[in-house]
This record gives sequence, C-alpha cells and structure tokens, in this order.
Amino acid sequence: MDGRVDTGAMSQDQPTAFPSSHPGSGDPAIAPATDEALLATARELLDANWTGRYTRPSQALYPHQWSWDSAFIAVGRSWYDAERARQELEALFEAQWETGMVPSIVFDPKAPPDAYFPGPDVWQSQRSPASPRGRPTSGITQPPLHARAALEVHRHAPPDQSTASLAWLERMYPRLVAQHRYLDSARDPRGTGLAAIVHPWESGLDDSPAWDRDFDRIEVPSGALPPYRRRDLDHAVASDRPTDADYHRFLYLLTLERDADYDDARVVAAAPFLMVDPLFNAIRLWSEHALVEIAGLVGADPAPHRAVARRIHDAMLGELWIARRQRFCAWDLRRNQREPEDTIVSFAPLLDPDLPRPIVAAICRELESPSFHPSREGPHYLVPTFDVRAQGFDPDRYWRGPVWLNTNWLLWHGLRQHGRNALADEIAVSSSRLVRLSGFREYFDPLDGSGHGSDRFSWSAALFTDMVMTNRSPTHEGP
Ligand code: DGY
Repeated sequence: MDGRVDTGAMSQDQPTAFPSSHPGSGDPAIAPATDEALLATARELLDANWTGRYTRPSQALYPHQWSWDSAFIAVGRSWYDAERARQELEALFEAQWETGMVPSIVFDPKAPPDAYFPGPDVWQSQRSPASPRGRPTSGITQPPLHARAALEVHRHAPPDQSTASLAWLERMYPRLVAQHRYLDSARDPRGTGLAAIVHPWESGLDDSPAWDRDFDRIEVPSGALPPYRRRDLDHAVASDRPTDADYHRFLYLLTLERDADYDDARVVAAAPFLMVDPLFNAIRLWSEHALVEIAGLVGADPAPHRAVARRIHDAMLGELWIARRQRFCAWDLRRNQREPEDTIVSFAPLLDPDLPRPIVAAICRELESPSFHPSREGPHYLVPTFDVRAQGFDPDRYWRGPVWLNTNWLLWHGLRQHGRNALADEIAVSSSRLVRLSGFREYFDPLDGSGHGSDRFSWSAALFTDMVMTNRSPTHEGP
C-alpha cells in the first residue's frame, strides 16, 4: 500500500482547502468516504462518548474525563455544538484544585471500580487538602491547552450564542489564569520561566523516548508496589501499549507523589522524574497568548499575560534550544541534562508565534528529513512521533513511533502560523488519509497506516472535524 504524501501540487504561501476531496488518491485500500460522511461519523462517535457533562476519550480504555482530551474534544465539537463544548471545559474545571492545578483525570463515580487502573482508590486524591471535596481525581496535571481551547470554542459560537459564550468566557477566565499561575509558581523550581512535570503522564506522551534516559534509570525498589493488574491490556493489545517495565515505573512515581500527599513543594523537591518538556511548555505558551486575547474580550488586563508569554518564549530559547543539535530538547532538571532523543516534542515550539525564522527553518528541515518524512524512500504517513531511523523506533507502540492526530493538529497549527502551509497541508493530507484508511483510531502506524490503541477515539474525531471546518472557514482568525 502506497501511503506516500503527494507534495507536488501544494503552494508554500497559500493554504489549500482541506485536501481530502481526492480520497485515497487512487489507493483502493482507502475508503472513498466524503468529508461529509466522515464528519457525520465523527459527530456520532463524539455523541456516543458524551456522558451528559463531558466526553470520554473512548468507551472502554478511558472511561473517565481526561484533561487535555477534553480541550481537544471541545475545540472539535464547538463547530456544531458550542453548548456541549462549553460544558466539557466547565465540567473539567469544576474539579480544579485549590492550588489552580487542573487534574489529568476526573473520575466518574458511576464507572465500575475496575473500569480503569489506576483508579481513585489508588490515587487517593483526597489526601491533599487542595483537592476538590467529594470529587476523586488524579493527583497530577496535563498540558494546559485549555485557554487556547476556550478561545477557539468562543470563536466558533454561533451568533445567537455570543452573549452566553462571552458570559462563559468570563466565568472561565479566572480559572484558566489560576491554572497558569499554578504552573508558573509551583512547577518552576529554578525560577527559569519553564514549568517542570513530575510524571511522564503529565506530558500526555507517557512513554515517549524523549525522556528514556532519565525515566529508564528509575529503579523501583522491590516490594514498593502491591500486586496489581493492568486494565488497559483488557482493551488494547500489549504491543500497542507501554511496556510492563514502564508501567511499573509510572505506578511507582504515582505512589511517591501520593505518599507526599500531593504537596507540590515536597513532590518537586523529591521527584525522581523532574522534566522540562518542550511540548508542555509550548502549549503553555500558546495558551498564554490565548489568555492575552481572552483578557481583552472579558475586559481584563492583557499586559501580565504578554509578560508571562515573553518570559516563557525567552526561557524556551535560552534553556531548551540546543544550537549544536539544531533542536529543542527536554531538560532533565534532576540531573541537569538535555535529552538528545529526536522526538515529536522538539517540534512543538512551532506553537510560539514569535519563534525566530532560522529556528522555524531548522524545525522544518528536521520534519522533512528522512527521520520523520522518508517520502522519497517509501510509503509513510506524517508525523511519526519518534525518528523512524532511531534504535527503539516502534511503529505501533503508543508514543514510541505512531502518528497521533493531536500532535499532528498541534504541528499543523504551528506550521500555518509561520506560513509553512505546504508542510501543514501534507500533515492534513496524511491525517485525512489515516482516518479514511483505519477510522478514528487512537494512533496509527506511520509506515502502513494501520490503526492502533483504542477504536472510536474522541480526539481523533474532534480534531479531524476541526481541521476540515477550519479549512472551510476563510474568516478563521487562526492560529
Ligand atoms: C493511560 O492510562 O494510558 C493514560 O495515558 C494515563 O493518563
């Protein structure tokens, strides 16, 4: 099956319409579904995963509310159901901690106790006085995409909902600010302007090779964990999911944080994993720019948000851009080392609207290199999450190689904002062809396009919707 991306007809300057009107490009393996049919399927899927207050990422594998999933889902859904999109984000922020932290998971008390592991009985979020009473959550966070999502949801509101949407934005604004100020303070132990994560789950890219060197050296003392059963393997094949060794370390870090009662100062002081992730911080910066705009809309002062954005921008360039490698690298604060692995996180700073042009050019060179775009050599889909030529590249295992539509969507936005429309369009073509070939799967093999992980995955449906609808909307204010 030739999944090659056809770059020939695409202009560098003009964004094309979403290039899906040539389904399959003659490839019989790809279903000739129209955008309309796929949009309808996406909507049906999102409605089936809707709980009445928020959307589950998927029915079986992720039966609760996940933080950054809800941000992606709200953006996609807002094109046709702005009210549910607003509810989605509001439901999440009802579980915001007093510190401002937005937890990575908000547990559904009605889900069976064995629906997901580790569940509320393992996390025990109530050990922290800052956690919301009577609302079990995880004790860690996820990338702060929510201000950006809130702005997009507001932009998509139909005219007859503009008053309701603005009132919602006014309610959300202080909560979004609190989320950001939490990251600026509790998660910046060196005062650099960059937020650190204390668990790979906080990155959203759990087993990414971006932090292998640090994560793999964490030793789990024998007897540190009681026996447990991985529930994820009831719903997905083991070769698609993180390894048992990784899972063991994930759980060990969880127990250390729980044993510190999720007290930020204690957790940050002792965490064996303390990582500054370029993707987490690029999303934070992108959202801080969204706060500038939201402040303007709700009558608040945008100046503090501009100042924070400038600080994050400077720190990303000063601390994470490694000129010798021509790459943004994750920074292991515990050992004070930059991680050299070539992964998707290195491209995320494209979300910074002020990224200097030579750095944009360097990122594009790498995205077009045989490590991520072996187009001239063989079939493939964009964008693999790990260098396809690296040792340890695995086309099917979670964040160790597969294409994910959320990272594609982030890079698509970042490239468009820097006028790199041809490459952005290639990513859109690949995303569309993957969905046509394999459905709204959680992730995809970049070499053969096969679908992996969960089926009927909410953010894949939502972000496909957003890419189609954004390209149909010439007045879209993007990025
Ligand atoms: C999982 O369960 O795989 C999630 O990524 C953790 O939040």
